[in-house]
Amino acid sequence: ASYDMGGHDTYMHKEIHEQADAVDRVLRGRIDDRFSTVHLGGLNLDAREARQIRRVKILGCGTSYHAGMIGAQMIEELARIPADAEPASEFRYRNAVVDPDTLYVAVSQSGETYDVLAAVQELKRKGARVFGIVNVVGSAIAREADAGIYVHAGPEVCVVSTKCFTNTTVAFALLALHLGRTRDLSVRDGKRIIEGLRKLPEQITEVLKQEDQIKQLAEQYADARSMLFIGRVRGYPVAREASLKLKEVSYIHAEAYPASELKHGPLALIEPALPTVAIVPDDDLLEKNRAALEEIKARSGRILAVAHQEQEKADQTIVVPKNEDELDPILMGIPLQLLAYHTALALGRDIDKPRNLAKSVTVE
Ligand code: G6P
Repeated sequence: ASYDMGGHDTYMHKEIHEQADAVDRVLRGRIDDRFSTVHLGGLNLDAREARQIRRVKILGCGTSYHAGMIGAQMIEELARIPADAEPASEFRYRNAVVDPDTLYVAVSQSGETYDVLAAVQELKRKGARVFGIVNVVGSAIAREADAGIYVHAGPEVCVVSTKCFTNTTVAFALLALHLGRTRDLSVRDGKRIIEGLRKLPEQITEVLKQEDQIKQLAEQYADARSMLFIGRVRGYPVAREASLKLKEVSYIHAEAYPASELKHGPLALIEPALPTVAIVPDDDLLEKNRAALEEIKARSGRILAVAHQEQEKADQTIVVPKNEDELDPILMGIPLQLLAYHTALALGRDIDKPRNLAKSVTVE
């Protein structure tokens, strides 16, 4: 690739460190303080149409699918529209019922992923309304979609996605806020979310300052053969994405599970050799999450927590700044990008080009 590495040894490292600026860009020019909403010029959706949406279905692959899982929760929370995400690759083969009152949202960094493109084309053929949330301007999916939001993450070269994931989750927050403000989201809540969004770049910088500490943790965990990632509701897609990041770039097996499902299987695996990374936001589920940590500790499991405050049951805690509950997932994954990066570095992996993977999968 031909972009300057700007003094970093890998694109992954560079792109992780570009996130404060990238988030600044996805927000720029879009916030409307007067009405506590956002302007999304590429959306082409008037308020009356927005109110007619009865469901939102989000489609993407890999990291973009995980960003979509976070997006679905934001849309449900802020706009109270039923929403869910599904891998585009699954959706297109199951002869899904296409519904005219559903808004379909195709998510893709490259805008070229074949499974996503094929899903969009099938949806369009059946008369559905499809939006794109895409990074690469003018890409196939951006062109095929009826309307959309560019995430403005800038060029992403490393095969594993970092800054584009973060920007996509922010773009979803904008979409959720926009849809919410055509419905029942109050001016006050709109303001609250806008203030939260504005805090993000500075908070990202704060998270990235902990790199030395995270590097030490990565070196401690690099000998693990497998790792478990857990989270609940808002924390679950964060756990999914962190586990994907670790396995893609370090080749350590990792599995993500809802913390609420531990007792239905994964607890049988807990022993000192299987470390757990737990996402523990300071929200209404804090006590439930703490109980899960206790269950793991009682079985001698090692725990690394990502939380808003030090977790007593964890062996180590990476403390991240608190934002609004709905926006917390945007920040909580960022230290785990660094964990994956430094684990891969300690193991001497080919960080920007993991074996067997491609940046964009333009074939079946
Ligand atoms: C490939 C890449 C992943 C990426 C996925 C979707 O599998 O290795 O990092 O998340 O494609 O790519 P897209 O460009 O559609 O977001």
